[in-house]
Amino acid sequence: MCGIVGYLGYRDAYPVLTDGLKQLEYRGYDSAGVALSDDRGNLRVYKEKGKVADLENYAADKDKSGHLGIAHTRWATHGEPCARNAHPHVSASGRFAIVHNGIIENYPVLRTNLEAKGYVFQSSTDTEALVQLIDYIAAQTASDTVSVLQTALKMVVGAYAVALIDRNSPDRLYAARKSSPLAVGIGESEFFIASDMNPISCYTDKVVYLEDGEIAEMSCAGGLRIVNLDNAECSHEIHKVPKNLGMVQKGGFEHFMLKEIFEQPDCIRDCMRGRVNPGDKTVTLSSVREFRDRLLSAGRFIIVACGTSWHAGLIGKQLLESLCRIPAEVVYASEFRYSNPVIHDTDVVVAISQSGETADTLAAIELAKQKGAFIYGICNAVGSSIPRITDAGSYIHAGPEIGVASTKAFTGQVAVLVMLALDLAREKGTIDDICYARTVEALDSIPDKMKSVLKENGRIASLAKIFTYARNFIYLGRGYSYPVALEGALKLKEISYIHAEGYPAAEMKHGPIALIDDEMPVVIIAAGNALYDKILNNVQEIKARKGRVIAIVTEGDDVISKIADTVIEIPQTEECLTPLLSVIPLQMLAYHIAVCKGKDVDRPRNLAKSVTVE
Ligand code: G6P
Repeated sequence: MCGIVGYLGYRDAYPVLTDGLKQLEYRGYDSAGVALSDDRGNLRVYKEKGKVADLENYAADKDKSGHLGIAHTRWATHGEPCARNAHPHVSASGRFAIVHNGIIENYPVLRTNLEAKGYVFQSSTDTEALVQLIDYIAAQTASDTVSVLQTALKMVVGAYAVALIDRNSPDRLYAARKSSPLAVGIGESEFFIASDMNPISCYTDKVVYLEDGEIAEMSCAGGLRIVNLDNAECSHEIHKVPKNLGMVQKGGFEHFMLKEIFEQPDCIRDCMRGRVNPGDKTVTLSSVREFRDRLLSAGRFIIVACGTSWHAGLIGKQLLESLCRIPAEVVYASEFRYSNPVIHDTDVVVAISQSGETADTLAAIELAKQKGAFIYGICNAVGSSIPRITDAGSYIHAGPEIGVASTKAFTGQVAVLVMLALDLAREKGTIDDICYARTVEALDSIPDKMKSVLKENGRIASLAKIFTYARNFIYLGRGYSYPVALEGALKLKEISYIHAEGYPAAEMKHGPIALIDDEMPVVIIAAGNALYDKILNNVQEIKARKGRVIAIVTEGDDVISKIADTVIEIPQTEECLTPLLSVIPLQMLAYHIAVCKGKDVDRPRNLAKSVTVE
């Protein structure tokens, strides 16, 4: 949440900063701002409500010169989205400008104390308390900027990634982090900072990831110096990252979300590359090879995740239990961290995250680590925080996901969970050879089957027009299809703002059935389900109450397809792989309904792609 960019060097800072912000807009997009410094330390600050493009319009005719600057795209936590609350915030003396991602939890106390000392606040943000505190300490102590930052940050409770410029040191850029990500890019006589490495990778392949409690001081003459809050020098590893990571384009699609839906066959192919061997019908995850004994001796798997990743986790639980006969639990990371959970050192905690930065998931991992559990990460963003703190893991290799509503990351997560469960089951001897080989073969054919599901896009676009009237939707599924029902409902909520709920199909009669009338669309996932007859009964119950049934069925289905109002067919596959196909029509349905309603599909209101605050 919130994207930060900073630049110091020989280039004009403004285009570097705004181009960088555009690549970080997935983190927040309710307001944006930039602070530029000239060589004598004169600051110019421009802020605007809305997206980075709105900031650019606002600043179009303004002086944007300067080789030092910081910039921010915001997802509001404290204070409404408006120019006044947008970052950068400038201290009362005008000496410091700051951008911040995270939450300063003790800001009310800091603010009250500073107001008592005469500071007048301009915004409703928690961040302003920090920049005024820095200003106050600087005035009191006359210390150097790093010492001032150390003193101030020791007084702060909460999470932060900050970038700071100091009018008195116009040749320097400062940054610090605790629990929020920040990367420093090192070029030839220039430095970049950003919330992820995408904006940096356009200019340099050398990146240092700041660790918690570290402060970076950058100057073209003096280089990069990193110290902790007690002023001990910190050694830092320079990572090499691929160039131009962030230059993702829509490639002819109207929205990133649609592009990412259509990328799924290729993503799953990439995810399986080197892991699934269709020749001898085997699956091999290198992490399972490396940590075989630890994983096989696990007494229990606990899956922690948030949002869409949590839905993938629900599928993972079923896979681990049914294929590997290992007890598995799925817990929202936000609940796990505060529930005083019973964790044994024989447990394996699987953390699933597209971004690898979700604050609650990171905190859940830290807790599980303290209790001695083995941590296995399933992430998409390469080099993000979660893969760096886990004991083992697998990337999903889906490439950057820009649309805020997750699509290809979900199927990638499910694919990794399938491979993990198959590989472990084989090692444990809980799967017979025929079932193993059949499932591997079926997994290998999933990308082609996804392509055939994607051919339904035009028909689903027409179908969507019918349902723009709806104020509510119900999604039903059983077994492996229950998490898909939850995911379909979440997609619709996120981007069309239509209220939607997912339920296990059999639970319908315990409440949701009261909602069914001739206006209620019910999406029911019947494809590939061992309990087909029971789902058929649900369809009958809905039709008896005049509900409008959209059924996802297996190709050739001639029973439910005769009763449902609309059917969308998907190819036949193994039941445990059905989610990889059945979720796609639900993604497309949500997408097209949102487009018909004129919503901003890639940047839905109030949401952010990477939730780095609690
Ligand atoms: C946000 C995103 C969701 C995502 C969730 C978890 O809410 O909008 O799409 O599922 O965070 O994110 P993660 O990066 O940990 O998968």
